[in-house]
Amino acid sequence: MRALRNDRVLRALMRQPVDVTPIWLMRQAGRYLPEYRAVRQAAGDFMSLCRNPERACEVTLQPLARFDLDAAILFSDILTIPDALGLGLYFEEGEGPRFRKPLRSSADIEKLGVLDTARDLPYVVEAVRLIRRELNGAVPLIGFSGSPWTLATYMIEGGSSRDFVRTKQLLYSDPQLLHLLLDKLAVSVTDYLNAQIAAGAQVVQIFDTWGGALSAAAYREFSLDYMTRILAGLTREAEGRVVPTIVFTKGGSPWLDAIASSGCDAVGLDWCMDIGQAREQIGTRVALQGNLDPAVLRAPATVVVAEASRILRAFGTGSGHVFNLGHGISPDVPPDRVAALVEAVHSMSVK
Ligand code: CP3
Repeated sequence: MRALRNDRVLRALMRQPVDVTPIWLMRQAGRYLPEYRAVRQAAGDFMSLCRNPERACEVTLQPLARFDLDAAILFSDILTIPDALGLGLYFEEGEGPRFRKPLRSSADIEKLGVLDTARDLPYVVEAVRLIRRELNGAVPLIGFSGSPWTLATYMIEGGSSRDFVRTKQLLYSDPQLLHLLLDKLAVSVTDYLNAQIAAGAQVVQIFDTWGGALSAAAYREFSLDYMTRILAGLTREAEGRVVPTIVFTKGGSPWLDAIASSGCDAVGLDWCMDIGQAREQIGTRVALQGNLDPAVLRAPATVVVAEASRILRAFGTGSGHVFNLGHGISPDVPPDRVAALVEAVHSMSVK
């Protein structure tokens, strides 16, 4: 494989010097882009798009053709794992993800298998290979997975949830059964991420979207401990380079210190914490990724630039910052705001 022409993201994640602050965006391929909507329509539905490596590759590359982004992220979904484990994922228009067979009994959890990525999710492995080939060294490719806790919430609730009633019921009434599920998911996620790394992913991010719904003690026991275990089981080097790892817990700022000690190379921040304060707390242990409020992208470009500048100044000088949103981009964002953001981050980086 040829050397990377732009390795800013890899360097910043390892806290090595960079010429300008690198930027990529969570959900950078998606419905806010008309060219994405066209491919999704041609594919029929979202899961058919995920299951087709050529189309998944095509939409992965779309935002890079428009914007000067410093990384690509595999186009897929965190819920491919539960789907492959037999829960039957589908998307109800406007309602988000749903499972035909959610986990409803202890027997459901006991008989649940563990993922063998090569056997169960070959389309993801194939997409990673194809994207790497098509990127041809332009920027690094980020692979990803959901955290065991976040996956468990969808598998138990049967879809998206506000309050995680069933999952928390299980957590407080039969914690050992929840641990059995999280254990199977941790083994599955480790295999999944290692398969992505073997196929060419150069960075991996764990999305712990719902970790912030837990108490401090429960977060440690039911989310962070499993991510720590996964990180310890990941392939650390590929193609002669370290494969940096990012942990993103939405709502995780109160536990920043603990997350920074999980064995990850970088912590993803949502928009709630000042990134300068976060940096003071964690020192040089890990890099930081974030943390623009995605809602800013609905404001005029001048506001986008001002808010980006505020974050760059708050982080300050020195390496170890990968600019990103504090959560995924929304479908109603005008693409020209993303162009303004990327341009602003590169041109206003604190040298
Ligand atoms: O970042 C990227 O560009 C890579 C692609 C990606 C998607 N989902 C594509 C997607 C990634 C990294 C994800 C992760 C994901 N999926 C998470 C964790 C990150 C987060 O945003 O919190 C979660 C919780 C999911 C589960 C999921 N998938 C939900 C709740 C939804 C419905 C969203 C909605 O608005 O309908 C999805 C579907 C999904 N995943 C879409 C995309 C582009 C929209 C599908 C469509 O085209 O209609």
